[in-house]
Amino acid sequence: MTDTIHWNDLTAETFLADYWQKKPLLIKVAFTDFVDPVEANELAGLAMEDFIESRIVAKKAQNWDVKHGPFEDFSEFGEHNWTLLVQAANHWFDGIDALVEPFRFIPNWRIDDVMVSFSTPGGGVGPHLDQYDVFIIQGEGKRRWQVGAPDDTLTEVVPHEDLKQVSSFTPIIDEVTEPGDLLYIPPNHPHDGVAIENSINYSIGFQAPSAQELISAFADHQLDNQLFEQRFDDSQRQATKTPEELTATDLDLLTNVMNSALQDKSVIQEFLGKYLTTVHHTLNLLIPTEPMSIDFINQILAEGEELNPVLGLKCILINQPENMKLFINGESFPIDNDMLEFTRMLAAKRGLTSDNIKSSLLCLKNAQLLTTVINKGLWTFE
Ligand code: SIN
Ligand code: CO
Repeated sequence: MTDTIHWNDLTAETFLADYWQKKPLLIKVAFTDFVDPVEANELAGLAMEDFIESRIVAKKAQNWDVKHGPFEDFSEFGEHNWTLLVQAANHWFDGIDALVEPFRFIPNWRIDDVMVSFSTPGGGVGPHLDQYDVFIIQGEGKRRWQVGAPDDTLTEVVPHEDLKQVSSFTPIIDEVTEPGDLLYIPPNHPHDGVAIENSINYSIGFQAPSAQELISAFADHQLDNQLFEQRFDDSQRQATKTPEELTATDLDLLTNVMNSALQDKSVIQEFLGKYLTTVHHTLNLLIPTEPMSIDFINQILAEGEELNPVLGLKCILINQPENMKLFINGESFPIDNDMLEFTRMLAAKRGLTSDNIKSSLLCLKNAQLLTTVINKGLWTFE
């Protein structure tokens, strides 16, 4: 069971203090007796679906090729020098989604999804940089991983229009990973994994939005909601002798128009909650064929069935005195103190059983919320 990380001489706290966003780290046998939650042929099956993002990166002599899924047949790639990458594979396999559990010492909102790769000997995507932190679990097989420090002298290499690599770097980690090993790579650290044997790797990816992404998404959110409509106001204007100048006073007034848009905490929180729970890959939403009533839901719970969120669903709880909200999949649900215990269970994506929610459902607001999320296909009895 992959439920805890064997940190050896570290702890989650010392890892965060010394390595997180700072230095790469390889933990040998972080997971004892690691069992792959997926087999190579099941991964290939995912890559045959058109709603799942996948690609194959192949190296032929010094040339690189990239093909995008869905794939029908893998035989053209042979037995060496290619890797299949399947994005958000945790949306489709329970066991892949469960690989995120040992990383709950980092808040849920920071975790994005799990990308799974299958590589044949010699396979990899070449030396490159990523903008996000990643934990890579070595499953079946062996792979040689080299990881370097950030280096401004590295140049970008684009051997194929869909493949960004970097020039060769000096590794500070150069090791062969085996099943159960865990590699942590901070953003912008060059790395290169080359399979030695057929190899499966699980990449737990994180999200860390840039100012560019946040501000442009915030502007879109404000436009959609007809907010951001305050306008420049110069009702206190004095006559000027320098009409060609944009003066300090006007610069301040104009800057204030922009700043005022960022002052309303509840607007910002509403945006952040929706933005950070928006999932970028297909979710396996299971919308009931007929809307379920709370009586029907209670009946199924009473029969001992468990309710679970669909795999890969993102939920965030904001529990501020002046702003209590639950965000699920880009939607916001206002809550209050009576609902806190129940919505915390929802947000933590724990399995809901009659035993753990019976008393919560006596509160009508909780019962309504549960009915809504079930009828949207977000929680299901499957
Ligand atoms: C992988 O090939 O499993 C991971 C690719 C990467 O380094 O991002
Ligand atoms: Co990478």
